[in-house]
Amino acid sequence: MENKTVFLNGQYLPLNEAKVSVLDRGFLFGDGVYEVIPSYSGRLFHFQEHLERLENSLAAIRLANPHTREQWLDILSPLLDVNLDQYIYLQITRGVAPKRDHAFPEDTSATVFAMCPVIVPFAGLNDGIKAVSMDDARWKFCNVKAITLLGNILHRQEAIDQDCAEALLVKDGYVIEGAASNVFAVIDGVLCTPPKGNDILPGITRDVILEIARKNNIPCSEEKIPFAALQTASEIWVTSSTREIIPVVELDSKQVSDGKPGPAWHAMNLLFQAYKKSLS
Ligand SMILES: Cc1ncc(COP(=O)(O)O)c(C=O)c1O
Repeated sequence: MENKTVFLNGQYLPLNEAKVSVLDRGFLFGDGVYEVIPSYSGRLFHFQEHLERLENSLAAIRLANPHTREQWLDILSPLLDVNLDQYIYLQITRGVAPKRDHAFPEDTSATVFAMCPVIVPFAGLNDGIKAVSMDDARWKFCNVKAITLLGNILHRQEAIDQDCAEALLVKDGYVIEGAASNVFAVIDGVLCTPPKGNDILPGITRDVILEIARKNNIPCSEEKIPFAALQTASEIWVTSSTREIIPVVELDSKQVSDGKPGPAWHAMNLLFQAYKKSLS
């Protein structure tokens, strides 16, 4: 990665000069939360919604928000470039404690880090990706955007090891989400996605897609998707801020419909791109 300017605890500095202590609780325990906020031509996409999710994540781990929304905007804005599509990666940990102890430390201040890499368009967008299903082995705080991502990492790697780009996680017979994405399926002509709860991350891209679908009279529903129904879906997509809407053309080595991105994906992707453009 280039040696771009990053933000660390009140300072802007080159990436290779940004250092945190080995006693930081983010390093020792994964005790922190993060956000990923796309920025198109220097404009943050759904900033308020991302900040609201950040506030919820911080509240869930009982860490005080070090800044107001206005202060966050002031902090992040200097990292943005109007000529680029980028994403803010923002991480807040419980800070550096004098000793390694599971209990929350007293009187430590949070570590705040932000960087702003360029968004590299996802190579699989037009051809679609292969996905593999597996039992969700994660925890009960999946609605919190916690930096503690070991479960997600192991699931994603298992998918990659099977020559797939994403793992679709199944719990109690229902598909939940991807290892780093939300999931949509077109079933009997209805665009379905699992409801929010503590077993999925409330994706901002997910919400935008539902909003676009409702505005354009595309039938959609937020309901639990039995894994058996997913296997008969005419289309499956996975969604996230940096990869946007990715068609899944093969699940568990079986083609989804004709093995090509479907008409509902084409329509939604056009609407999504037009919506992004309308905001910049
Ligand atoms: C587990 C998980 N679910 C869903 C998402 C999608 O969320 P968003 O659309 O806000 O990027 C992500 C994004 O990284 C994720 O890691």
